[in-house]
Amino acid sequence: MSVIAHGIKTLGVLGAGQMGTGIALVSALRAKVPVLIHDRSRDQVSKGLSLVDKLLAKDVTKGRIQQSEANEARERLRIVDGIEAMRDVDMVIEAVSENLDLKRTLFKSFAETLRPDAILATNTSSISITKIAAAVIPNGQTAASEEGRASSGRVVGLHFFNPVPVMKLVELIAGVQTHKDTLGRARAFAEACRKEVAVSNDVPGFVSNALLMPFINEAIMCLEKGTASRDDIDKTFRLGMNHPMGPLQLADFIGLDTCLSIQQTLYTGTSDSKYRPSILLERMVDAQWLGRKSGKGFYENNDA
Ligand code: 3HC
Repeated sequence: MSVIAHGIKTLGVLGAGQMGTGIALVSALRAKVPVLIHDRSRDQVSKGLSLVDKLLAKDVTKGRIQQSEANEARERLRIVDGIEAMRDVDMVIEAVSENLDLKRTLFKSFAETLRPDAILATNTSSISITKIAAAVIPNGQTAASEEGRASSGRVVGLHFFNPVPVMKLVELIAGVQTHKDTLGRARAFAEACRKEVAVSNDVPGFVSNALLMPFINEAIMCLEKGTASRDDIDKTFRLGMNHPMGPLQLADFIGLDTCLSIQQTLYTGTSDSKYRPSILLERMVDAQWLGRKSGKGFYENNDA
């Protein structure tokens, strides 16, 4: 365990998709902190909370937790209407879609609304933490001023993996502005959620996606070229390398739009042609065949 205390008494989570919901659940259940959740779609929040109810009920049925622990965790989760309602949180974790402009706008609002010592964390899977941190300079200040550095120093990358309750890792990423204390507290919080922490530099895709996405992209290119069938590509990795899912199945699970956007970040962020996204991946996203979330990707949801 980390020697630095995380000091998080209340957490805010922005975005109630698969990642935001999972982060809220492990924070409430394992770190035992009250969590305020906001998503602009009420429907998304209701879906997220019904998944939380199912997962807590399963934990109770399997004897992993007591019913009282499940009830307490559930009571710690509260839906709120906007960032304004999060003004007193000690840390916010943003888990919205992978769009730099959207993240910059949200982080500017966090900086204007939340307490000056609140940690501003992003669950981004590939966007530069340094670029996001540059958006939180108070009006009238410069990035190099004391206030500017204090504000951007509390931005950090805390990258969880899907499904959050199951996957044991959190990737911790510092932007060039991130303070040591912010990093230490973010690490301590991830550990309180019973995650192992791996540190990555702020490079496109960080360590995890700089390695995973080219692998998935290459598998899609193999399918495109007819090197092997969908099932044989996946079988090769499931049975030959003991991966729990083959790369095409994993791409559907992550979401093809997310895979494409990360691959584009790698490509534009490095200008290296080896990261060019597969045309088939682009076309599937054009067709809104996004994988599990849309019911069709390389597989249909009712495929075995
Ligand atoms: N939420 C919570 N729990 C889930 C879940 C979900 N969405 N999906 C599955 N689980 C749980 C199941 O409930 C089950 O729990 P139990 O042991 O209590 O019954 C456990 O996971 C195993 O599930 P199943 O028995 O149904 O199925 P599998 O044994 O096939 O496991 C899997 C499912 C855990 C998803 C496994 O296939 C796996 O590990 N796949 C690879 C996942 C992976 O690589 N994730 C990382 C993606 S990359 C990422 O997130 C980074 C981003 O930046 C792109």
